Order: sequence, then C-alpha cells, then structure tokens
Amino acid sequence: MNRKPDDQRTLSRRSFLAAGAASAAAAGTGWSALAGPPAPLAAGPGDPVRAGLIGVGGRGTRHLETALKNNYVSIAAVCDLDEGRLNHAAGLVEAAGGRKPALHTDYRKLLEDPSIEAVFSATPCVAHYRIYMDCIAAGKHLYGEKPMCISVKEADDIVSQQEKHPQVKVQIGFQRRCNPRTMEGIKLIREDKVLGPLVEGRAAFNNAWGGKFGLGGPGSWQSRVLESGDWMVEQAVHSWDVINWVAGATPRQAFGLGNRELFRSNDPGRDVSDFYCAILEYPGNFIVQFSHSWISPNDPAFSGHHERFIGLLGGIDLTAGKITYSDRSDRKDKTQLVQPEIEDETTLAINSFIDCIRHDRIPHSTVYNGRDATLVGLLVRKAVYERRAVTWEEMLKSS
Ligand SMILES: NC(=O)c1ccc[n+]([C@@H]2O[C@H](COP(=O)([O-])OP(=O)(O)OC[C@H]3O[C@@H](n4cnc5c(N)ncnc54)[C@H](O)[C@@H]3O)[C@@H](O)[C@H]2O)c1
Repeated sequence: MNRKPDDQRTLSRRSFLAAGAASAAAAGTGWSALAGPPAPLAAGPGDPVRAGLIGVGGRGTRHLETALKNNYVSIAAVCDLDEGRLNHAAGLVEAAGGRKPALHTDYRKLLEDPSIEAVFSATPCVAHYRIYMDCIAAGKHLYGEKPMCISVKEADDIVSQQEKHPQVKVQIGFQRRCNPRTMEGIKLIREDKVLGPLVEGRAAFNNAWGGKFGLGGPGSWQSRVLESGDWMVEQAVHSWDVINWVAGATPRQAFGLGNRELFRSNDPGRDVSDFYCAILEYPGNFIVQFSHSWISPNDPAFSGHHERFIGLLGGIDLTAGKITYSDRSDRKDKTQLVQPEIEDETTLAINSFIDCIRHDRIPHSTVYNGRDATLVGLLVRKAVYERRAVTWEEMLKSS
C-alpha cells in the first residue's frame, strides 16, 4: 500500500544546512568530527538553492538545462565518470551565465562540499542505491531519477534512510506526479468517483524509438538486467507509479509473458525483455492489462505510451487528459477535458523540487511511491521470467 510520509518533520533552510553539515560529517563523507562542520550559510527562501548534479548523460543534461532556467538554482558542482560529459555540462553552466562549477569524477567529493544543498542524480539504475543512500546521509536534498532502486532490500533501505533523515527532501523522478493533468484526473477518479467503480486499466509503453535494436547499443547499461533491472523496472515504473496511485494500492498478483531473445544476435549479452505483456490484479477486482515493447512500427496504431482507466460510468485517458462518459452515466456532456494545457513535465517536476526546498514542503513524489513502483516492476519481472502468476508476497520474499 502507498504509505504517506506523515512522520516527516520539517526544518527551515537555515537549520537544514546545519543539519546537513552534521550529517555529512557523521556519514564519513565530509569533515572530521573533531574539526566540526562549517558554519551554516544564511540561506532563506529568496536565495538560490546551491545544487550539484551526479550523472550528466541524457537525463542529467535535461535536469541541468531545466535547472539553469530556474532563477532559484545555482549549479555549484557536477560529477560524472566521463570527462567529456563533465566538460559539456560545465560549458552549459557557463553559457547560461554561471561560474564554472567544480568538476568531480567521484560523487562522494561532491557530497563533501558543505555549501551544496541539493543534488540531481541521473545515473544508470544500478548506481542509484549507493548514491541515494549517501546523499541522504550527507543531508543533501535529492532529486533522484526513477526507478528509485532495483531490489526489495534497496527499496526498504532507502525508505529507512529517509525516515532517519526526515529533514532531507527526497523527490523520486516521476514527473507525472507534478503534472496537474495527472493530479486532477486521479482526483476525479478517486475522490469524485466520476467513473464509478474501477473495472479495467489499459496501459502501454510501445516504443518506436531507441534505434534498430532497442534502446542502448551493445553492452549498454539499458541492455543488461543487472544494471537496469529490465524494462519493467527501468521504464514501466512510470506506469506502475500512476496505476498504484489510481488504485490507491499495490497489486495482489501479476501474470506475464515476454521475449528476451529479440535482439540477442546483435548483442549476445542483451538479456532485457524487449517485448512482454502482463496482467495485474489490484484489490477490488480492478484488472490492468499492460503491453511494453521496443518493436513497434512508428505508427500510432502500434506505438505510444498511455494509461487509460475504465469504470462502470466511463473511461479516462489520463495521458491525453480526456474523460468519455458511457450511456450508464447520467451526465449530459459525454466528454470532459482534464487540464488540456500543461507545461513540460520535467520542468514542472524540477521546479516543484526546488519549491519544496525553498518553502519547506514535502515533494509530490517520495520514497514511498518510489518503493511501491519498483516493487511492482519486480513483481511483473518475476511473472514474465517464470511465465506464471506471482503474488505480491512471493515477490517480497524472493527479490
Ligand atoms: N524520468 C524520465 O523520464 C527519465 C528519462 C530518461 C532516463 N531516466 C533515468 O535517468 C537515469 C539515467 O539515464 P540516462 O538516459 O541519462 O543514461 P545515460 O547513460 O545517458 O547517462 C548516465 C550518466 O551517468 C554517468 N555515471 C554512471 N555511473 C556514475 C557514477 N557512479 N557517478 C557519476 N556518474 C555516473 C555516466 O557516465 C553517464 O554520463 C536512469 O535511471 C534512467 O532510468 C529517466
């Protein structure tokens, strides 16, 4: 079940900086305990948040470009294993009128900088766990890309780490959580019950991009289960997060079938499921069918990403923001648009994270929904690999 971080206490930014400095020292990532932490900066809601980035590949560059447009962020440091990417990121900061950021190849050095309040992290999934645990221990607010992590133990550890450091704002990179269309659509379903009892979900991630042989070339992290978690963890986690939110619960069981051989002749080590489909059962006999692939021809008849939900009174296309009421509904207008005009989701999510820090509020996407979304990915993965129905309890015991 989704749990609410009701017990998260909040601190002012000034006391956050003091707490963060002490945490970094305690975590062994910062200053010696004898020397003590540096004096906290006098940051208030009007001051820019000093941020660092860990991982500036495709997604991290998007974080950087978006953060550079936010007047309340200053980029103080960047870390990547790849020097070319580091220099490219530094160039973007300077071109936007900023000072050259400190450049690191070891993220722990970035975390040792007491002046850094917040971190954006976008590395291959396998690296998330260690980086997120260390960021939180160092007292840095974290925008950490999805999936939060790729195993049950990692998910539980990150939740515990957040609970030990409640002053740290952790936002997991599910940008749909900050999208007013998704928020309003889910309110209409759950609170206003405009669809009546939910019966069916239809969702898909049928990709017609990513190159001839699925995303990631031979040997890339996206092509390896150990590094990505497989597509049901790496990519479908966006959908699981939305479906859990709609259901207000996690599934009881899932069944699945798939194919891990499709592009193996191009890359003998490729072991991800470039096609699978799954059926998930949520409480209340709410059944969701899901299809996910990298083989779709580039035609909307075959490709695209959507989450649609049908109740006895109508259906919502949450992705498009449209409700269509059925003849069983007594509404006169049979269609309703939900927030038809929205800004770019990544911009909404990154601005929302900065706003949480400045105004001391809880992020819309937390470690709790991050944990649940990863666990659904693990449930579906086990079902697909074992070609059978797998219960939530079995998944928790085995992953
Ligand atoms: N929210 C979204 O819509 C969205 C979209 C794309 C990717 N993502 C997620 O973002 C993450 C990154 O994906 P990507 O497409 O940018 O991958 P990428 O391969 O383009 O970039 C990853 C970067 O991380 C760097 N890196 C690897 N290990 C590191 C470490 N220990 N310390 C510092 N840097 C390290 C790599 O050198 C590389 O530059 C993944 O978790 C992915 O699932 C999210």
